[in-house]
Amino acid sequence: MRVGVGILGGGTVGGTLARKLLDDHEVIASKSGVELALVKVAVRDMAKPRAFPAEYATDDLESVVDDPSVKLVVELMGGLEPARSLVLRALAQGKAVVTANKELVAADGPELFQEAASHGVSLLFEAAVGGGIPLIRPLSESLAGERLTRVLGIVNGTTNFILSAMDSEGRDYADVLEEAQRLGYAEADPTADVGGGDAAAKAAILAALAFGVWVGGDGVYREGITEIQTDDIEFGRRLGYCIKLLAVGEDTPAGVAVRVHPAMVPLDHPLASVRGAHNAVFVEGPAVGDLLFMGPGAGGDPTATAVLGDVIDAARELLAGTQVVPRIQFGAGRLAEFEQVLSQFYIRLEVADAPGVLAQIAGVFGDHGVSIRSVWQEGRGGAATLLLVTHEATEGDQQAALDAIRSLDTVRQVAAAIRVIGS
Ligand code: NAP
Ligand code: HSE
Repeated sequence: MRVGVGILGGGTVGGTLARKLLDDHEVIASKSGVELALVKVAVRDMAKPRAFPAEYATDDLESVVDDPSVKLVVELMGGLEPARSLVLRALAQGKAVVTANKELVAADGPELFQEAASHGVSLLFEAAVGGGIPLIRPLSESLAGERLTRVLGIVNGTTNFILSAMDSEGRDYADVLEEAQRLGYAEADPTADVGGGDAAAKAAILAALAFGVWVGGDGVYREGITEIQTDDIEFGRRLGYCIKLLAVGEDTPAGVAVRVHPAMVPLDHPLASVRGAHNAVFVEGPAVGDLLFMGPGAGGDPTATAVLGDVIDAARELLAGTQVVPRIQFGAGRLAEFEQVLSQFYIRLEVADAPGVLAQIAGVFGDHGVSIRSVWQEGRGGAATLLLVTHEATEGDQQAALDAIRSLDTVRQVAAAIRVIGS
């Protein structure tokens, strides 16, 4: 029996999926036992060239959802609206939904999962985190019984592509961002990538699956890469680090803590070698140990492959008329205060090169309970660049120390404060 598929969005991912459904129709049927039939693909601009034949395109979004031959709706438009309303509209008609929209899942996950469950259909989102890397299924199925303690990794391809090119080729930020957009890695609005919003949504989803506690995109502390300067890439390398945008979720005694920020990563850490648009996520648990999931985190082909896997599962479920994929569930839990999270910092200060300045700065850190692990100084006439790496202390203490340092007459600028992830 055939399952009619309607796609909302025919861009980088939607266009690639449509082409795969048409070109690989027989391979999919013979490998999976389901026959998928592409019905329509909704786009905004009917004049744009597409990766699929023009006769499949429409600019009427609702007509795709409401088409009686469409049993399975794939949302690949991105953004909150109209995606959210269309997903709800499809679920209300008992149609299975597949999406790669991490922003939507992180914002409205519980309501959408509830709606899917109440209509007895699946809402699948493997491609929402990690592009082509299977990550959602291992977390929600294979590891469902493990008390996971930490997820840590690189979950945004665009920023990893930018930081890698700035580091190894000394390229300009704006120029590399433009290339990431051209290659289809970036979101329609790349502010979500470089500002940390895309990674925050993914971190929220990973934490929810790992710890069984709903965090939501808004519960994630975030900093992007827009403030990263080439000087710190250079100084970091001298100290044995490279800079990565990391997502960290931890189940601590104070509650679940989820954050996204750039971090100095030791050059011998496995994450340091993850380059370009690749993603890599460590998942840690007391019984299972450390698992590393790595692969292409963005781009039309890898992402459409992950979406297609979901489409096949959802189609199998529709054909079987019974639940095949476990439903996503969350329990109650509390979120930790960000001020209580332990962090270690790399700090670059531009200071007066005068007697007693270093002692004064060390004193301020000491007064706030922050211990200094290493110091490196380069003098230039009356001024000096001071690089400090602190030991771990709470975010609250580290930030209070930095505020006090900023107010010192001898400190011209706190030029950078970047967290360090050691292990
Ligand atoms: P994209 O290239 O910008 O494609 C979006 C598509 O949706 C376009 O075809 C666009 O039409 C259509 N669209 C958007 N708003 C519309 C509206 N109001 N009415 C009708 N059509 C509309 O985006 P993408 O890169 O394929 O990403 C799609 C989703 O996948 C997003 O949620 C993204 O976060 C997620 N994702 C992307 C990647 C990736 O590497 N690109 C990886 C993982 C997940 P036009 O073409 O006419 O403008
Ligand atoms: N814009 C996203 C990224 C796409 O660069 O990682 C994959 O979700």
